[in-house]
Amino acid sequence: MMKQRIVFASNNVHKLEEVKAMLGEEYEVLGLSAIGCETDIPETADTFAGNALQKARYIKDHYGYDCFADDSGLEVDALNGAPGVYSARYSGSGSEANIDKLLYNLTGKTNRSAQFRTVVALLIGEETRFFEGVVRGTIISERRGQGGFGYDPIFVPDGYEGTFAELGNEVKNRISHRAQAVRLLVHYLKGREAE
Ligand code: IMP
Repeated sequence: MMKQRIVFASNNVHKLEEVKAMLGEEYEVLGLSAIGCETDIPETADTFAGNALQKARYIKDHYGYDCFADDSGLEVDALNGAPGVYSARYSGSGSEANIDKLLYNLTGKTNRSAQFRTVVALLIGEETRFFEGVVRGTIISERRGQGGFGYDPIFVPDGYEGTFAELGNEVKNRISHRAQAVRLLVHYLKGREAE
């Protein structure tokens, strides 16, 4: 059987490997470098779905491939969903400063509830589909743990004692927002293929 070729509009090697492993043999998953795309694709929407679609649409329009893209971030209840789509650029000075700014903005707030959210946008044939993953948790007031990235050291997912940075990749890859969204994408693609 011919492998179906699909582009994942990401340069993140780790995400790419994870998705390849989940999709299995029937799909040839290509990252941006594999199709010769060196552009920093614009992400100017104000929602995760908008940004994910913008990235997938860019590839479909410029390269013609079926494509999916993801966008994620942290939404803090007491901050009305901030930093949200601005998670990576919250402080303008990288992850450590982002955490400092978030903790400062939560000073004195009793509601520490938050969620990580991912939206994956898929453009395949004439279809557009979205898949979403959410993991709820609590923002603690000091960093704990060495693993992960971004806001992981201050996020404790519901039902666990440790932060995402303490729980390790095995647990995180099972329960994370991104894992949930990608599982839904994989389920959809496999169902489509069986038709
Ligand atoms: P991206 O869309 O996956 O690149 O995520 C955008 C930003 O959201 C990252 O730069 C992080 O600041 C934050 N973020 C997304 N997912 C995670 C996560 O799993 N742990 C910690 N921070 C995350």
